[in-house]
Amino acid sequence: MTEVRFLIGFPHFSPHLNEITFSSGLHVIYGESGTGKSQFARFLSDGTRPHSTNFSLQGYDPPSGTYLIPQNPTQGLIATSVINELAFSLECRIQDSNRIQEQVSRLVQHLPDSIDPGMHPVDLSGGEMEILNLVLASSLEPSLLVIDDGLSFLNEYRKEEEVRKLRALARERECPIIWLTTEWNDLRWGDSRWRLSLSEFVSVSDFTPNEYSPVPKQSGSLKITLDDLTFGYPGREKLLSQLQLTSSPAAHLGILGDNGVGKTTLALLLMGILSPDAGSISIQLDSFCRPCYIDQFPERMLGVRTLGDWVEELMEHNLLSAGNLDRAQSVLTQLQLPWDSIREKQAWQLPWSVVRLAVIAVCSYADFDPIIMDEPTFGLGWRQRVTLRRFILRNMRRKHSILISHDQSFVLSTCDQVLALESPERLIEVDPEAYVPDRKKKNH
Ligand SMILES: Nc1ncnc2c1ncn2[C@@H]1O[C@H](COP(=O)(O)OP(=O)(O)OP(=O)(O)O)[C@@H](O)[C@H]1O
Ligand SMILES: [Mg+2]
Repeated sequence: MTEVRFLIGFPHFSPHLNEITFSSGLHVIYGESGTGKSQFARFLSDGTRPHSTNFSLQGYDPPSGTYLIPQNPTQGLIATSVINELAFSLECRIQDSNRIQEQVSRLVQHLPDSIDPGMHPVDLSGGEMEILNLVLASSLEPSLLVIDDGLSFLNEYRKEEEVRKLRALARERECPIIWLTTEWNDLRWGDSRWRLSLSEFVSVSDFTPNEYSPVPKQSGSLKITLDDLTFGYPGREKLLSQLQLTSSPAAHLGILGDNGVGKTTLALLLMGILSPDAGSISIQLDSFCRPCYIDQFPERMLGVRTLGDWVEELMEHNLLSAGNLDRAQSVLTQLQLPWDSIREKQAWQLPWSVVRLAVIAVCSYADFDPIIMDEPTFGLGWRQRVTLRRFILRNMRRKHSILISHDQSFVLSTCDQVLALESPERLIEVDPEAYVPDRKKKNH
């Protein structure tokens, strides 16, 4: 049985160090973005001391057999197919090739039906990548598993399922699993619950779930129309089949659905980045309509450019005026992200949450409408989610948005119209106040 012990202190606030012990079980640590969770996770996984955080950590030797699941699910996926990824990970601890084959076949059973084992991991949806990382981690038979936000693209039901598997793993291996998260409501899953802030690391004894406050009804003219829309990736079954729908007019339109059901694909079709195999899909607004898409992986939007280079390109293409850049910058200052501190940075030098908020603020003041945001709350803590929601509802009140997310409470409480993609043949309009997803859909 593994037990993890270390000392944590906040030298700016007190010279005192607290001793923390984690034994077998699932331990959930909540922290807003910017509190140093990734450095905390790194320390637990390989002993690297945090720098530039408010806390100091010491007195710890990582147990051998410690495994870290990084926040960015693409990091660490290196093979050219899902099946090779599984085989590579098993080769670390098994020599016999027949046993590797056997184990790979067993692990494939743990993947959702939507994952074709022959596909390239880079083509997996965000949630599918996270599930693959969880399957890889359990195949390594860890003595300590540290998860840095690694379940944040999963929808509620999928998350429940993965948490059940993690609990079983902790029991079977008699090991601690330490899960750092920006989703406050994830604390409900913990055998022990903790909160990391800029001034303390404390046990949460009185956990109550957070809820968004109600907002007055919005109205807008945004509609999407699908006419017999059919689409499939080459060599795969149809992902979307003969979808027919005209949505009711909205200010903010939400799109919900299981992991891998095709939400991001729908956005790429809306943007014309992908083309339908048959039928059509389009966006309508009463006024000027020039949609922009904020990627689920926001670093893909910047590539190797800095935020400053990307903004300059928008200005060169007359998509952003100097006055509107000033407005976006003052929003970022309110979010404690002064432009001068981030403009020279490339995406990999900044936390995802920062890149995402910067891109959302700039696109919202640029000449785009509607703004399509794919998983906008990923990596944001509760207060940051509340701030983003306020921004969408207040600052963007002359604009429209399409929010694609597994974060059901965020979508249902922010959007005036909501669509649920339930299967290749079923995209329906749902009542945001009464929606309960069909748990028996694809992959469940
Ligand atoms: N380029 C591609 N080639 C083949 N299959 C793909 C490709 N891109 C996506 N897929 C598959 O299409 C399905 C839908 O992917 P998509 O990213 O649209 O799902 P999603 O609903 O956005 O999921 P998530 O909530 O996990 O982000 C998934 O099963 C994914 O593996
Ligand atoms: Mg997606």
